[in-house]
Amino acid sequence: MTTYIIYDSNYGSTRMIAEKIARSLPVEATVLHVRDVDPQALATVDFVIIGSPTIGGQPTEAIKTFLHRIPAPVHPGAQAAAFDTRLNWKILSRFSFAASHIADSLRQQGWPVALEPIGFFSKGARSGTVQSGELERAADWARKLAREMGN
Ligand SMILES: Cc1cc2nc3c(=O)[nH]c(=O)nc-3n(C[C@H](O)[C@H](O)[C@H](O)COP(=O)(O)O)c2cc1C
Repeated sequence: MTTYIIYDSNYGSTRMIAEKIARSLPVEATVLHVRDVDPQALATVDFVIIGSPTIGGQPTEAIKTFLHRIPAPVHPGAQAAAFDTRLNWKILSRFSFAASHIADSLRQQGWPVALEPIGFFSKGARSGTVQSGELERAADWARKLAREMGN
């Protein structure tokens, strides 16, 4: 099974979560910054997990461009999942977050999305780190993903 975790990250929080998910999966997962992946390479991947910081309620431009360019999966049973990082500010809860947009784009490109998109809280907009307990929550989400993968 080929598993890719593709992320964008301006300050480091999203990369931190991507790496934690990779370490928490029982299968080997390749963690790649979005600028280092050719979208066409995704065609033959079995499981792809895509993560972005939330910027103005959306994924980053790099993630949005990438998602427009990915092909549908070749392997039957291939699945995807989406996460973001975001601020834990009550006022923002009325707006959208990156993960749901990522999940919508994945579905539009023909990728079934396993599990609900999820968000993890950063300590601050440019802190480059996440709130206490968020790495554990990422590990927990990874274990749920593993069950969706059949592990
Ligand atoms: C310019 C800017 C816009 C942001 N917009 C939002 C937003 O709309 N909603 C939100 O929850 N967080 C927002 N954030 C917070 C980031 O999504 C959050 O801090 C994220 O973890 C940063 O990820 P990174 O460290 O991987 O770059 C914004 C941060 C910046 C710098």
